[in-house]
Amino acid sequence: MNIKNVPVNTPLLDGNELIYLTECIKTGWISSEGPFIKKFEDEMASYVNRKYAIAVSNGSAALDIAIRALDLELGSEVIMPTFTIISPAQSLINSGLVPVLVDCEEDTWNMNTNLIEQKITKKTKAILVVHIYGLPVDMKAILNLCKKYNLKLIEDAAEMHGQKYDDAQCGSFGDISIFSFYPNKHITSGEGGMIMCDDLLLAERSRKLRNLAFEPNGRRFVHEEIGWNYRMTNMQAAIGLAQLEKINEHLIKKRRVGEKYFKELNDLVGFNLQKHKTKNSTNIYWVFGLVAESEKLANDMVNFLTKNKIGTRPFFWCMHEQPVFLKMGLFRNEKYPIAEKIARCGFYIPSGLGLSENEVDYVITKMKEFVR
Ligand SMILES: Cc1ncc(COP(=O)(O)O)c(C=O)c1O
Repeated sequence: MNIKNVPVNTPLLDGNELIYLTECIKTGWISSEGPFIKKFEDEMASYVNRKYAIAVSNGSAALDIAIRALDLELGSEVIMPTFTIISPAQSLINSGLVPVLVDCEEDTWNMNTNLIEQKITKKTKAILVVHIYGLPVDMKAILNLCKKYNLKLIEDAAEMHGQKYDDAQCGSFGDISIFSFYPNKHITSGEGGMIMCDDLLLAERSRKLRNLAFEPNGRRFVHEEIGWNYRMTNMQAAIGLAQLEKINEHLIKKRRVGEKYFKELNDLVGFNLQKHKTKNSTNIYWVFGLVAESEKLANDMVNFLTKNKIGTRPFFWCMHEQPVFLKMGLFRNEKYPIAEKIARCGFYIPSGLGLSENEVDYVITKMKEFVR
């Protein structure tokens, strides 16, 4: 096989991206005031089945706004997984809230919902779920807990475009939910994010926070509170809209690659995969990850793949082991054994939409060669 190198991600931009972008340039609408913003928001809202969508500059910005918009009392506790990207924890802390961590499940790598109730105290005001790598969190269990303890639900569906839990789209569950459109996602806008909700007041507040908290009806440049400039540009929305038009094709392609990897690598000695299916969902394989039985095995495999010009990325690093949080006095002496193991021994292989069949075959062949 004549393969030069296989990057861990390449986006696929083969729809109307160039036509829409050209329109931005020709009309001069390049800021956040242009018409593609509303179109992208409306189409996303309709796709995810939500009343409101607010486009922002990236997924982390969406989390900042979503969390602030809920106006939880300072010092409130919010339960979230330890195994995730830093963005949700960072947003909570920046808003004066306290992240309370939970370990994950060995087979889905998602937050273990059986471990949540023991973490609920009088200060708990919300659960922040993060759907990990392609499989949704067990939402029935989460919704029951939110109802029982009167908790708000923040849903980080950054990696989950088009994934469903039973018949409902991920991103449709949270009181407030978010997506990211970074180029490794099922649909991209270069950089980008979206906040989704059904509550008019939350939507209005999110819009305000995204735009320096300008008062929508007050005198311009007079502010009652502070927010951010987290606006998305018309050019980003143009790309995002073109991508959304092709989401079904993207999902089919991602699933095809994921299923092939799953079939071929499921028996790879020394490595475990994320489940292909749960009773509520089938994996959409945002990324295709493997967890080695030991850290050494993971490192050896990654080095072997690197030598063969195959890109990999390590898994997320747990929140309770982040130097920055330990320095802040958070999570000291907390232990979450499953997340720790997954973080140390997990990595993902090329999973982007631009991957060719030949490249997938090459990755599989090399991984099998390593094990032999
Ligand atoms: C679960 C999760 N949340 C939030 C983010 C942050 O999104 P962004 O990179 O657009 O800021 C990511 C990024 O991949 C993510 O995976």
